Order: sequence, then structure tokens, then C-alpha cells
Amino acid sequence: MVEIKNKRIIVFASGTGTNFINLYNNVINGKIILLVSNNPNCAAVKFAIQNKIDISIINTYRFPIEKNKNKQYEIVLNSYKPDLILLAGFMKKIPENIIALYNNKIINIHPSLLPKFGGKGFYGIKVHEAVIKSGDSFTGVTIHFVNGKYDKGLVIMQEHVLVDKKDNAITLSKKVLKKEYELYLKVVNLFCK
Ligand code: GAR
Repeated sequence: MVEIKNKRIIVFASGTGTNFINLYNNVINGKIILLVSNNPNCAAVKFAIQNKIDISIINTYRFPIEKNKNKQYEIVLNSYKPDLILLAGFMKKIPENIIALYNNKIINIHPSLLPKFGGKGFYGIKVHEAVIKSGDSFTGVTIHFVNGKYDKGLVIMQEHVLVDKKDNAITLSKKVLKKEYELYLKVVNLFCK
């Protein structure tokens, strides 16, 4: 049998990191070799520490000069030689030097059906609050390539989630997250295959 080499995956996360944890536990033919975060105190970092996953903290506190911060991303990523970079609740913009170097290798998950409820300022619970406010009867999940503009890269896969009349932003976020785990894993497993 032909042995498939594990793809080298780097995850970027800023918060609870449940997508990161789900991918870490379930990805096939891929290995998460590094977590990059701007937030040293987030749950994603705690999980990485507990599971002995390498961590790199890159933020303006450590790198107050933007040019140096952007260069640091480059130094770190180049040293790990990733096949794939996954954004999973990463709340900072990926700098242009990284987008240019890793073109079509950076993927993001967004908790709505882009282009709806996307762009600057639409992240996490804010997205679900906007969906509830809109009165839409469905929302969803989008997996897309990352380019220089917030939530504008080429869509890879999308999936609907129904909005119930009784839903609020919290109940909706839970339903959408469940779908996120499924869809992100599906896309990453396909990539690794
Ligand atoms: C997820 O819902 C993800 O789609 C969203 O942040 C949440 C992170 O949850 N990302 C964005 O809003 C990006 N614009 P997690 O940390 O538990 O995976």
C-alpha cells in the first residue's frame, strides 16, 4: 500500500479554539504542527500547551512595529514549512507578505453564508446577532481561501443552517458551530487526501 505522508498544518486561532480542537482530534492524513495566536491567554493556546503542540504568539505587544510583526509571521511560517494554513477564529488580518507567500494555501472559516454578514467587523457572535436582526430564515457556514480583503477570497464550500423563530444569537451560534466542525473537517480531509 502507498503510504500517504501527513500534510503539515498550521492553525491560527485567537479564542476558544473549538474548531482547532476538533481538527486536531479528527483530521486524517494531516498533522497540526503549530498554533499561531495573538492571544497568549486564550483557550486555544491552553489546549496547545496541554497537548504539546508548538505555539507561536505574534501580537503588537511583542512586535509593536508592524513591519517587524509581519516579518515575524514570515520567519515562523517559513521555518515550519506548512502545506496548509487554517484560520479558526483568528481575529487579526493576515498581512500581505504572508498572503503572497502562501497563495491558495490559507483557508478561513466564517459563520455565515458569505458574502452575507461578512467583511470588517463581522466576526464571532456579531455575525449571529446581525443574522437574527435581519430576520433571515437561514444562515450557514462558509469555508474560503484567504486573500487581501476580509472574507472576500474564493469560496470552497458552503452549507446552510436553518434559523428557528425561537433562536437568539447564542442558540444560533451553537447550531452553526456544529456545522462548522463538520464542514471544516470535510474540507481539510479532502485537501490532505
Ligand atoms: C467560529 O464561529 C468561526 O467561524 C468564527 O469565530 C468562531 C471561533 O470559534 N470566525 C469568524 O467570525 C471569522 N470572521 P472557535 O474559536 O470555538 O473555533
